[in-house]
Amino acid sequence: MRILIAYATTEGQTRKICRFLSDRLVDAGHSVELLHVEDAGPLDAARFDAAILAASVHAWHVQPAFIAFAKANATALAGLRTLYLQVSLGAVGNDPEERADLDKIAAEMVEKSGWTPGRTAHVAGALRFDAYDFLKAWVMRRIARDHDMPFDPKGTTEFTDWAALEALADEWAGGATG
Ligand SMILES: Cc1cc2nc3c(=O)[nH]c(=O)nc-3n(C[C@H](O)[C@H](O)[C@H](O)COP(=O)(O)O)c2cc1C
Repeated sequence: MRILIAYATTEGQTRKICRFLSDRLVDAGHSVELLHVEDAGPLDAARFDAAILAASVHAWHVQPAFIAFAKANATALAGLRTLYLQVSLGAVGNDPEERADLDKIAAEMVEKSGWTPGRTAHVAGALRFDAYDFLKAWVMRRIARDHDMPFDPKGTTEFTDWAALEALADEWAGGATG
């Protein structure tokens, strides 16, 4: 399959996730184009069989640039097999209230962009104290402590389940008919 992977990221974890998926899909024999949404122009849907779109959650919303990309390309995307990955800390663990909040954020993305993904998956992200400014570090320390999350106050603590992502990529791409 020819697969587009387009992402938005603020601190870099979603980029890392998308690079990981790209490597996995290329190894499985697919051709992949990896794009940051801010570098992407209008999509030529005829160039792809499938697309993975990924964004991360900050203060209960995904990046406006991601919504703009999905909106501008909603028609092209509607003709492709698609997977939406929403990266967050709420996806760490299986708290039903957090999940309900994440589903609302995903629903808001759909409502604002007019693009309905074929499939949506919540992916646990990371705490990246090496990428935060003073204010973000202060807020995130409080959130991490409130949620009993282990963290490295000077570095990155990843919660992403790479094995689960690998399985998702294999299953999603393996089940595609193109
Ligand atoms: C300022 C800030 C606000 C955040 N707000 C939320 C939030 O509302 N809900 C949530 O689940 N995660 C939230 N997160 C966690 C991010 O979604 C997580 O760190 C993710 O890995 C970021 O991905 P990125 O590095 O690709 O931007 C927040 C992180 C930061 C730094």
